[in-house]
Amino acid sequence: GNLLVSEEKSVPKSVKEMSKDGDEPPSHYIVNGNSFGSETSSAQIPIPIIDVSLLSSEEELEKLRSALSTTGCFQAIGHGMSGSYLDKIRQLSKQFFELPEEEKQKYARAVNESEGYGNDRVVSDKQVLDWSYRLTLRLFPETKRRLSLWPKIPTDFSQTLEEFSTKVKSMMEYLLRCMARSLNLEEGSFVDQFGEQPLMLARFNFYPRCSRPDLVLGVKPHTDRSGITVLLQDKEVEGLQVLIDDSWVNVPTIPDALVVNLGDQMQIMSNGIFKSIMHRVVTNTEKLRMSVAMFNEPEPVKEIGPVEGLIDESRPRLYRNVKNYGDINYKCYQEGKIALETVQITNN
Ligand code: SIN
Ligand code: FE2
Repeated sequence: GNLLVSEEKSVPKSVKEMSKDGDEPPSHYIVNGNSFGSETSSAQIPIPIIDVSLLSSEEELEKLRSALSTTGCFQAIGHGMSGSYLDKIRQLSKQFFELPEEEKQKYARAVNESEGYGNDRVVSDKQVLDWSYRLTLRLFPETKRRLSLWPKIPTDFSQTLEEFSTKVKSMMEYLLRCMARSLNLEEGSFVDQFGEQPLMLARFNFYPRCSRPDLVLGVKPHTDRSGITVLLQDKEVEGLQVLIDDSWVNVPTIPDALVVNLGDQMQIMSNGIFKSIMHRVVTNTEKLRMSVAMFNEPEPVKEIGPVEGLIDESRPRLYRNVKNYGDINYKCYQEGKIALETVQITNN
């Protein structure tokens, strides 16, 4: 069948074919050594759980502040989306990834673009590839949607994604206000920096089974470039790990929770008080995994920087002002370097 054809033409096998045949992964998927973190933690470091519906109370607000200034991530419950609603979103993603490859290729990502369906985008010749398939779509500003890349099957894809993104967007904006309040700042101190037309992206992730989880990652270690990321995890299969105190810690699956990760833009705006969490995805021999990530980013043209109220003598300005696109070098992660260090102020 397919396999024979690809061998005859000596076209490299796809991740899916290698996954199905249990092949030894080729060298460009092998992660050499650990650039970040030492070992997977066996100790159970708990990931904080925050009830969004309680954030009007000082107590929950303090939990939020503490979670974001230590780990930079938490599991959000009480966010107003029911478990069955979240299952509907998981189902949407599953229906898309189960389509025949030929159908999915109608939405293929062009080589130098970030939107569309495909494998890890190659940005550096030193790059180790992620063992994954992704569908990335821009949701906001609405005028920038590329509807030709939005799947026609399942038929309710666009409508359901649209509805989900509206809910997630308002949750994110609410969280950004709460984060400001938790630091005794004006409510708008963070959210206003995102500008009139903040960007929001959706990324549907599919991680096939892999015969060598010891050597191959679903996603290499990185911090998100976003302000804030909301992640719908697989209902059963774990895989996301966050770096806490130099150990990789599993983020457990809680079916009704949404994982909130802070990205680099928030670390900058909070002058380093809130942490942009380093994370990765491990592979699995037994089960494939899916997830849906939603990213909220400041308007690309807008300059953002540390909030004035968070700069003083005891906490000097840590970052220079940056624009979302162009100023932070994300190729860093291919070389085991941290992107935010490229915009850090070192001489004070
Ligand atoms: C990512 O951080 O890029 C993906 C997270 C996940 O699949 O859990
Ligand atoms: Fe990420």
